[in-house]
Amino acid sequence: MESTLTARDRVGVQDFVLLENYTSEAAFIENLRRRFGENLIYTYIGSVLVSVNPNKDLEIYSKAHMERYRGVSFYEISPHIYAVSDNTYRAMRTERRDQCILISGESGAGKTEASKKILQYYATTCPVTDHLSTLRDRLVQSNPVLEAFGNAKTLRNDNSSRFGKYMDVQFDFRGAPIGGHILNYLLEKSRVVHQNHGERNFHIFYQLLEGGEQNLLSKLGLERNAQKYQYLVKGCCPRVSSINDKNDWRTVRKALTVIGFHEDEVEDLLNIIASVLHLGNTQFGEGKNGENQITTEPQLKYLSKLLGVDGAALREALTHKKITAKGEEMISPLSFEQAVAARDALAKAVYGRAFTWLVVKINQSLAFKDDVYNSSKGSSSVIGLLDIYGFEVFQHNSFEQFCINYCNEKLHQLFIELTLKSEQEEYEAEGITWEPVKYFDNKIICDLVEGKHKGLISILDEECLRPGEPSDISFLEKLEDTLGGHAHFVTHKLSNGKTRKAVSREEFKLIHYAGEVNYSVNGELANQSGNSVLSQCFHREEVTDQKRPETTATQFKNSLAKLIEILMSKEPSYVRCIKPNDAKQSGRFDEALVRHQVKYLGLMENLRVRRAGFAYRRHYETFLQRYKSLCPGTWPNWQGRLADGVATLVQHLGYKPEEYKLGKTKIFIRFPKTLFSTEDSLEARRPTSWRGYRERAKYLRIRQAVIVIQSAWRGMISRQKARRRRHAVDIIRKFIKGFIYRHYEHCPENEYFLDHQRFSFLMMLFRNPPKSVLDKSWPIPPPCLTEASEHLCRLCMRNMMRAYCRRIQPEWKKQMEQKVVASQIFKDQKDSYPQSVPKLFVASRLNSEEFNLKVIQTLGNDKVKYGIAVTKYDRRGYKARPRQLLLTSSFAMLVAEAKLKQRIDYATLRSISVSSLSDGFMVLHVPSEDNKQKSDVVLQCDHLIEVVTKLATMADKKIKVNMSQDSITFAVARGKEGVIDFTSGPELKVAKCKKGHLLVTAPKLNP
Ligand SMILES: Nc1ncnc2c1ncn2[C@@H]1O[C@H](COP(=O)(O)OP(=O)(O)OP(=O)(O)O)[C@@H](O)[C@H]1O
Ligand SMILES: [Mg+2]
Repeated sequence: MESTLTARDRVGVQDFVLLENYTSEAAFIENLRRRFGENLIYTYIGSVLVSVNPNKDLEIYSKAHMERYRGVSFYEISPHIYAVSDNTYRAMRTERRDQCILISGESGAGKTEASKKILQYYATTCPVTDHLSTLRDRLVQSNPVLEAFGNAKTLRNDNSSRFGKYMDVQFDFRGAPIGGHILNYLLEKSRVVHQNHGERNFHIFYQLLEGGEQNLLSKLGLERNAQKYQYLVKGCCPRVSSINDKNDWRTVRKALTVIGFHEDEVEDLLNIIASVLHLGNTQFGEGKNGENQITTEPQLKYLSKLLGVDGAALREALTHKKITAKGEEMISPLSFEQAVAARDALAKAVYGRAFTWLVVKINQSLAFKDDVYNSSKGSSSVIGLLDIYGFEVFQHNSFEQFCINYCNEKLHQLFIELTLKSEQEEYEAEGITWEPVKYFDNKIICDLVEGKHKGLISILDEECLRPGEPSDISFLEKLEDTLGGHAHFVTHKLSNGKTRKAVSREEFKLIHYAGEVNYSVNGELANQSGNSVLSQCFHREEVTDQKRPETTATQFKNSLAKLIEILMSKEPSYVRCIKPNDAKQSGRFDEALVRHQVKYLGLMENLRVRRAGFAYRRHYETFLQRYKSLCPGTWPNWQGRLADGVATLVQHLGYKPEEYKLGKTKIFIRFPKTLFSTEDSLEARRPTSWRGYRERAKYLRIRQAVIVIQSAWRGMISRQKARRRRHAVDIIRKFIKGFIYRHYEHCPENEYFLDHQRFSFLMMLFRNPPKSVLDKSWPIPPPCLTEASEHLCRLCMRNMMRAYCRRIQPEWKKQMEQKVVASQIFKDQKDSYPQSVPKLFVASRLNSEEFNLKVIQTLGNDKVKYGIAVTKYDRRGYKARPRQLLLTSSFAMLVAEAKLKQRIDYATLRSISVSSLSDGFMVLHVPSEDNKQKSDVVLQCDHLIEVVTKLATMADKKIKVNMSQDSITFAVARGKEGVIDFTSGPELKVAKCKKGHLLVTAPKLNP
């Protein structure tokens, strides 16, 4: 509803007072259910906090949450136990009035948790000095100790408080906690000797057995096995999954030290705990003479040692009773049943007294020097926390339930009185007429229980004091005689036919404000009578005191009266706890169970009282501040009196006179719907004004966050960059230094540089190695790698060549071999050579069809391997004649059609002459003395280099090829010689010159 609430907080209404249908229980429960579904476990009824146990950890109790609630008005923030804690604290400080917070609810509803949260809130948020921090720790640590001795696992709660607790925390004028005091009520002692199925004895027994060191257990005569102890086996439930006894033992031991227990005190305390276990194992049997006697001697021995009592006296006390009649003491033996009852009574009493002693010790440790209970009120104030059982209704309700419900009846009375009183006071203070509210006054029930002579407790006292044997039935009869006809008291006899079935003969029914409860009178009186056995273990005065002790009920009545007195003197706040299911499960909302609790806690009554007058009230200032934007007269600021401002505002809003009243400092609004419609108008206006502010505030927060994140991010990036730059500078510096020292021996100064050079050279080679065998390029190595580079170059070449050779085909190989021969002959010798290199040599320039068959036949076995058309020049006259030049493996021949003109055996071929120009002339020199042979042959052809290469290859490579610059002389028949002159010119020309020489002009192909 208020400013800082989020949409989630708005589930249902966060204050039941604002429920339109406030008389409807269903609407009430639906609101609880909806909020519980969203984990919103807290809801207000005015200033009362209703809390539903979530049975799971909600993350709403952190220190940050505490801070959020600190100093913030109750209604400005979602309901929380911290809001109640803080409000109470602030009220105590500002008004200097003692406060109390009453926490009630069924077993397992979360009372103890709530009280712990409140205490934690004060311990964390209140100012504290070093000196006071010890006290703060003791306050907090008193909880685990009291829980160990006073809490137990029950069917409803794994950590059920089996005693009522009222704790005062005392604060000094600065608001710092300076002391504390605890009052305990009605410890459920019967649990010491008996537990229902599925329940356990008090935690401390299990903690001691599980966590106690071995030598401690040996000293106490105990075994580490709960099953061995009669007082621990009744519930058949020694272990509980949600409880870690071993860890808890450590916590308790530590807490005892923090609180200030001496080691010997702890030892005594543990002796008592152990002795209770030994008492449980003490058995009785029949002696020789038929008398009842103890049959378990070791237990007796341990008991006398641990309790520090005389063994014989203890034996006597457990088996005999002392009766004082007319001043004379008589001792008579106990029957078996009596002895067992006496033993159990002793165990309960011992434990009960130990618990009381524990509380006294804790109180001493928490006490402030100026005892708040004795001193007149000084500068300190007190906040009281009451964690007490709520209404309990079982199938069979014993005396303990009676006390508990009576206590609740009293607290309800107080609640009604105080709530109505405070409402009335507020109305009066505001000058608004108080309209009487109808409510059920439970005084009639309280009187029924505690009335002076006609009250239930008085009758019980009387019956116990009466001479003769009092019995449960005589007590019931007495009740019927005295209380018969009371509207809230019913017994089997007193009830009419219809209702008689609902009450058995050994029960009486009380009609409490919250419902009807049947109480059993069985054992009612036995619970009240003192036992002589106890006296031997307790104070001597108690033994000598002849007065009958007060019954437990009277003791309880008196302590309750005192409690009520304490509470009446304080300003109360209320926390009403509800458990959503019986299975201790989270997220399950059992409507029937909740309805039952809503009824028993009197929440509807509470709401009715609260809503009897006006649903909503708020200080003028707060109201105006919130809604001023809805009225032009009050926006943006109201300058006059606040009351006038509110009046202007509500007039503008159209409130009808019966809908509201203006008090002295507050406006009272009768119906929630009036307020809701105002809220709706505000919501509708928000985009233009309020929402603008809120969005701006949100924007500024986000912006701030963005700036923080940005600066952190930029810082990180810059640091990263700076690191990189520093690194780069280092490298550059090393590089320069290395460069300066590059010619020196390897030394630290040039180490990096040389390494880098080596590395880059090798990487360059790696990335760009020579691609082919013809690629002769090779990078220049740094001086330090010269030798390695040469090796690498060689290796690389070899490798490439090897790869190249492997790839070569046989034809290509042959081609290459011929090219090599050609190269050996012509390279740098003949002008036309470079142009011939890329032209491949062919197997033959003539096809087989071009050979004359006759010529082929004359060759016989010799095969023509190469043939080419050539021009033969006569030796005389230089007449050009077309011929075929055919080469076989052993000779060459010139053929003119079918005629073999000349055969030149390779063996006789002396040499070949060619010019150095680009012409195609060659002269084959043959020996002139050989008559069979004609003289030298002058030939011209197109593929001269190919022809000469083929000739040279076939005839033997060693054949001499003469390269002539300007002329070739050749032999003509009979000693005569011919000459061919060569000259370069623009084009190829062959002519006979005047000298009788053949003149060949050839173009220059290569400069
Ligand atoms: N606010 C809470 N958040 C989480 N769990 C809770 C809360 N309140 C109670 N519980 C759970 O419920 C259990 C029972 O709560 P608690 O012991 O406070 O009940 P109780 O009302 O004191 O019961 P009893 O009357 O038996 O002592 C706790 O042990 C805890 O597990
Ligand atoms: Mg409790």
